[in-house]
Amino acid sequence: MENIRNFAIIAHIDHGKSTLADRMLELTGTVDKRHMHSQLLDSNPIERERGITIKLAPVRMDYVVNHKSYILNLIDTPGHVDFSYEVNRSLAACEGAILLVDATQGVQAQTLAHFNQAKKLRLAIIPAINKIDVGSADIEGTRKQMSEILELDPNSILLLSGKTGQGVTELLQAVIANIPCPVSPIPGTTRALVFNSNFDPHLGVVAWVRVIDGSISAKQQLQLLATHGSTGAIEVGAFVPTRRPLASLSSGEVGYVVTNLKAISTLTVGDTLASDQSVPPLPGHQPLKPVVFVSFYPTDGSEINLLRDALGKLKLNDSALEFAPEFSPALGNGFRVGFLGLLHADVIQERLEREFDLSIIAAAPSVQYQIDKTDGTHLTISKAMDLPDITSISQIKEPIISMSLFVPQDYLGGVMQLCQNHRATMVNMVYKGRLVYLTYTMPLSELIHQYYDQLKSLSQGFATLDYEVTGFEPADLVKLDILIAGDRIDALSQIIPRNQADHIGKHLVDRLKNLIPRSQFEVAVQAAVGGKILARADLKGFRKDVLAKMSGGDQTRKDKLLKKQKKGKARMKRVGRVDIPQEAFLTILKVD
Ligand code: GTP
Repeated sequence: MENIRNFAIIAHIDHGKSTLADRMLELTGTVDKRHMHSQLLDSNPIERERGITIKLAPVRMDYVVNHKSYILNLIDTPGHVDFSYEVNRSLAACEGAILLVDATQGVQAQTLAHFNQAKKLRLAIIPAINKIDVGSADIEGTRKQMSEILELDPNSILLLSGKTGQGVTELLQAVIANIPCPVSPIPGTTRALVFNSNFDPHLGVVAWVRVIDGSISAKQQLQLLATHGSTGAIEVGAFVPTRRPLASLSSGEVGYVVTNLKAISTLTVGDTLASDQSVPPLPGHQPLKPVVFVSFYPTDGSEINLLRDALGKLKLNDSALEFAPEFSPALGNGFRVGFLGLLHADVIQERLEREFDLSIIAAAPSVQYQIDKTDGTHLTISKAMDLPDITSISQIKEPIISMSLFVPQDYLGGVMQLCQNHRATMVNMVYKGRLVYLTYTMPLSELIHQYYDQLKSLSQGFATLDYEVTGFEPADLVKLDILIAGDRIDALSQIIPRNQADHIGKHLVDRLKNLIPRSQFEVAVQAAVGGKILARADLKGFRKDVLAKMSGGDQTRKDKLLKKQKKGKARMKRVGRVDIPQEAFLTILKVD
């Protein structure tokens, strides 16, 4: 065990984690430079395009220093706030972490969030400044910031470039010198932490594990302590970076266990694999809980089975994804899907469209609400249309987040105003050099009502944010309904603060009026709370004829225009006699 080092790289998005990992693989000879690409980064193309990596296998590297050979296990941590529980469990599998800060960006909200998690888990931290090769790198400024904000010894901070490889050898030596080797807390038992998993079409569910005590070998029967399940270990081994089977994995080692489980949802992140049920489970397990819910409806109702199959396929490799069939009187059959956050929702929607070629209408995302009823019963809902009759409700509770922000001083006023507009309450404000570190509590629903986009745009991208859901609190909320041509469109209903209903109702009607294509007859757009109409607009009727403007006959041009119109239609949903475009469903989040 004394020659093993288990570590992660923690960094804000784009600070250079994957590039540095690539250099380490090269330097240790784990991967040949010429074969770099396909090997390590087997992430999804959509994740790659968005500059995020959700899942990367832990990689085992052999490294010799002073004639002594070491096993270095690099465990990846997802780089986005939606996946902070997975980050936490990956860190729990390590004894140390490299804290990487981009010299052109400095410390950001996620640097601090991950750093705090690593400290709580008592990991050894190796601070490093990355991208020192870039002309605009501010090495001294970043060093000062790291010592001020993170209270690190400025002399302990390494300098490196993941791009050129400068400083990476020294970094690996620091990993060996400063990160403790693993220890076995309860020798004599067999326990392994499941810090992630994947579904392999040929092998089934593969657990990514850190063995804490004892050893696991192929053919062994194992218990799952959190879910009280059990599984056989069909094969065990390590990622080097592809799978290499081994006879066993022992205390301190990191690798994989091919299970005989059929569904990834039966192997939850943070669970303990153990020799028997009487062994104490490893601490820190939490069931994954979706916090944002979106309904998907195929634009062509006959594609409902294709949508079900596609969601089922995505779920095979994503234990956090939950879905259930639902029926909307306005939009027909669809699925209510639960996500870990907005980015998770976005990635899945894009994959449904691109990988499965589905045309879907997505209703606006919603959070969950807890309803206390006058008869003493309780109910949890995730969409406005499930809200029971107002007279039967004694209280509505909404999810609250604890949010931390890093804001350059120049944008402080704007950010504080934005927080106030979004019902946020300040908890703390600390000046850290030119940056201000703010903590707030805020309803989660405000975050999905454009808060993040507005924060980014008013701070020109410089403000960064991290959050966690902390609980539910009562609020004075009502359901705002939208009626189009007399029909209540359930997917356009939303739960909002009572004192904003008038304002939001008026603005929403105004926006929808411009989004809904005119038809041959007059259409009324109305906003209502209960039976009370708050706003109304009437769309005059006429048919939009895209060909009317063209005199004579350039047939190809006509065809092109018709095709364009048809394509536009694909993203509309016919409700009664009116076509409602995708944009209309998302616009309900854009009014504030
Ligand atoms: P996520 O894991 O998706 O959060 O991103 P990441 O932290 O892994 O960042 P990645 O390694 O993808 O690097 C982000 C960008 O910075 C890429 O365009 C890299 O080429 C660039 N980059 C990374 N390290 C360096 C460096 O040392 N010098 C320079 N000049 N560019 C770098």
